[in-house]
This record gives sequence, structure tokens and C-alpha cells, in this order.
Amino acid sequence: MKFYIETYGCQMNISDSELVATILSTAGHIQADNIEDADVIIFNTCSVRQHAEDRVMGRIANEKSRKRTKTNLKIGVIGCMAQRLQDELIDLQKEIDFVVGVDQYSELPFIIESDEHLAVDFNKEEIYNEIYPTRRGKFNAFVTIMRGCNNFCSYCIVPYTRGRERSRPLSDVLEEVRIAGDNGYKDITLLGQNVNSYDYDGVKFPDLLRELNKIDNIKRLRFVTSHPKDLSDDLVIAMSECDKVCKNIHFAMQSGNTEVLKRMNRGYTAEHFYGRILKLREYMPDISITTDVIAGFPGESEEQFMDTYNLMKKIEFDYAFMYKYSPRRGTKAAEFTDQVDEAVRLSRLQRLIDMQREVTLHKYQAMIGKIVEVYVENVSKKSDDELSGKTDQYKICVFPGDKELIGQFVKVKITDATAGTLIGVQYNE
Ligand code: SAM
Ligand code: SF4
Ligand code: F3S
Repeated sequence: MKFYIETYGCQMNISDSELVATILSTAGHIQADNIEDADVIIFNTCSVRQHAEDRVMGRIANEKSRKRTKTNLKIGVIGCMAQRLQDELIDLQKEIDFVVGVDQYSELPFIIESDEHLAVDFNKEEIYNEIYPTRRGKFNAFVTIMRGCNNFCSYCIVPYTRGRERSRPLSDVLEEVRIAGDNGYKDITLLGQNVNSYDYDGVKFPDLLRELNKIDNIKRLRFVTSHPKDLSDDLVIAMSECDKVCKNIHFAMQSGNTEVLKRMNRGYTAEHFYGRILKLREYMPDISITTDVIAGFPGESEEQFMDTYNLMKKIEFDYAFMYKYSPRRGTKAAEFTDQVDEAVRLSRLQRLIDMQREVTLHKYQAMIGKIVEVYVENVSKKSDDELSGKTDQYKICVFPGDKELIGQFVKVKITDATAGTLIGVQYNE
């Protein structure tokens, strides 16, 4: 059968789609490049905010009309929303043929061929050992080092959709990174909901980084996501010492007010968070730091919101992903009685976005005159004579150049910047 996968959500889901494609291809099915050719359409879904679920439900509703002309077409839902809603999904959209949760992908080859609607065991916890995914991207490889989450932040659905935390064996991670490097992927992103708590038989995350740093045929190592309560001094030291580890970290603050952080069950204070930022900058003065922030968490007062606003401004993140709080059924915060008005949530979010845009522009413009190394990925979207790639801080950089440079690391001198793109010219010493 020909299958087509449409992916929503975080990098973990992008990585899982590669895993699913590998499992299905190994079983003899063929990945279709476009949706029209598919016998099976698979939606890999996200539940993190209501909007993410609404979007995919809209897409499924659109695609089901294909069944009129292609009567044997199957539509399947996998990923976090499948795990969360299970058979409820089939009641919501009658055209869904199967629902498979995040830890049952090994069953997919049988399910797409059978008349089963549901995977058998939604409580199973998998780590998918010794499956090394075939990748679709050209240059960056996502490598999952752990699955699940034990943190139960009070707003978050992920611990319910992805189950308890489990680390992949060190040997398996090393093998997957080596294979990726051999296949030309020089930029490796390690994935986990809280990579700082990686622990396999006593091997901790800083040890893992040091081991991976020894692999010759890769050039860049990065990781998402670091939890502020678990970012150890040893990790900061390992980051600063390992030459392949990018001096760039995604470090989710969520709120700048200790009382709100407590109610979010984040396990750290605003002071602790700021202290960790200082530690990172002490060891790596040029480190680029990005974050996640939630506006309008239940009970958040204007003063508490301003603590977030002011701390973000003081820290000057290179970039921030900002969200308005979205209640998720089954989480603690959804039961809190003091939900903030939708209009207030929205206006607080907008204020954060406006402030951060200025900060990002300022941070990007501060790069003017500097020499950076760019991993060239593509011809730029705007012009055929320009190339686009990423710096080791994961900033997009555009510069004039020949297509032959795609896939190479090129030195570029930054001449201009917007709030999201560095612009430069090739630099020859
Ligand atoms: N495990 C990662 C962490 O702790 O940083 C990422 C978790 S989640 C996939 C990505 C981001 O979504 C979170 O950092 C949080 O800011 C946001 N998020 C999670 N649940 C949310 C909710 N109910 N409403 C709004 N934003 C939410
Ligand atoms: Fe969600 Fe918190 Fe786990 Fe991140 S650490 S996935 S925000 S529960
Ligand atoms: Fe990722 Fe969404 Fe699941 S953010 S872990 S795909 S709920």
C-alpha cells in the first residue's frame, strides 16, 4: 500500500513520523510523495493546545471527501491526539479508519491492512530500540534519546499522551548518530521532553554529550528541551567543553513569577531560572538562548504577568515561543477555578510578542559585523542567487552564493539583520 503522513506538533512528532515511515517501509509499504497517490493517509497529531487539535480535525474533514472517488482509501490518526482521545475520535469523525497511539507504531503494518479500528494496548510504553529511521530531510537529523515525561506541569497534556519517562540505551543513541553522520547528516538534534534527566544505567546527559562529541563524521550537536530545574552545572560545563555542541539552548521559562511557577508545578523559582541563565552566560558568553512562555495561566494577576514581561526583557532571549494558556481536559490547571478571561490572555500574549520582537531584532542586529559559520541547506525562498542555511546558534542566514555550496559549511560575514534572519556575504580569510 502507498501511505502518506501529514505531521503536526513538535520535533518529537517529526521524528516519530520518520520512525513510522521506516516501520511501514520495512513491512513492504511505500511512502507516497503526495496525498493524491495515497491508499492510506496518516495524520500524526498534536494535543498540546486546543488549536492544534482543531486544525487537524479540520484537515481530516477536508480529506474525507476523497473517499467518494477512492472507496478503499483509509484515513488513520496517530500521535498525541490519538493517544488522548482513542475511540472517542472515531465517534467525532466517522471517516477515521484507525487510531494508533504513540507507543504502538510497531502494530501499524498490521492495522493498515486489517479492519481493526484501534491499536490493542494504549497503555504500552515503547522505546523503539534498534530502529534507525530513514530520514526525509537532507541535513538535520532528529534523534530521540528518551520518550515520555514525568514532570506533570499542571497545564500540560504531554505526560498523559506520552506516558512515563524512559531513556534509550546509550549504544542505540550512539549507533543512530553514527549512521546519521555516515549518511551525510552533519547537524544532529537530540530529542526528549526533558533531556536533562536522561539516565541510562547511570549514564547521564552530560556523559552522553561527551560520548557523542567524539563521533568524527558529525559537526553539530544540539538538544531540546532542557528543564530549568534539572540543568546541572556539569551540563553547562559539558556544553562549554564539547566543540560540536552548539552554543545555543532552548530553555523554557513559562513564567517569571515564582507563585505562578509553583502553581504550574515547574519545580523552580524565577530566581533559580535567572541564576541558570547567568551560569550559562558565564561559561558561554555568546550563547543564544530561546524560550517558551505562557500568558494568562489561571490565576495570573496583572502584576504576576508583568514579572514575566520584565524578566523576559531583562534576560533578552534571542527568540521566544509565546502561547496563550489553553485549558486541556484532564490536567490540573484546567480544574483551577480562576481561569483568566480569553480577551486578557490574548492581550497579554500580544504585549509579550510586541516586546520580544524588538528584543529579537536587537539581538539579531548585534550580530552585524560578526563572522558566522553557516550550514547551507537551500536556495533562498526569495531569490535563486541566494542561499539559506543555519548558523551554529540555529539562526537562519541568507547570503549570495552558488548552489554548489548546498550541504557545505561556509563562513559568512553578517551585514544586516531582521527579527528572524541574518543577511550576509561569503567571507574568505
Ligand atoms: N517538554 C518541553 C518543556 O518542558 O519545555 C516542551 C513541552 S510542550 C510540547 C511545548 C510548549 O508548549 C511548553 O513549553 C509550553 O510553553 C507550551 N504549552 C504546553 N501546554 C500548554 C497549554 N496548555 N497552553 C499553552 N501552552 C502550553
Ligand atoms: Fe509538559 Fe512540563 Fe513535561 Fe514539558 S516538562 S512536556 S511542559 S509536563
Ligand atoms: Fe509534541 Fe504536541 Fe505531543 S507538542 S509531544 S506532538 S502534544
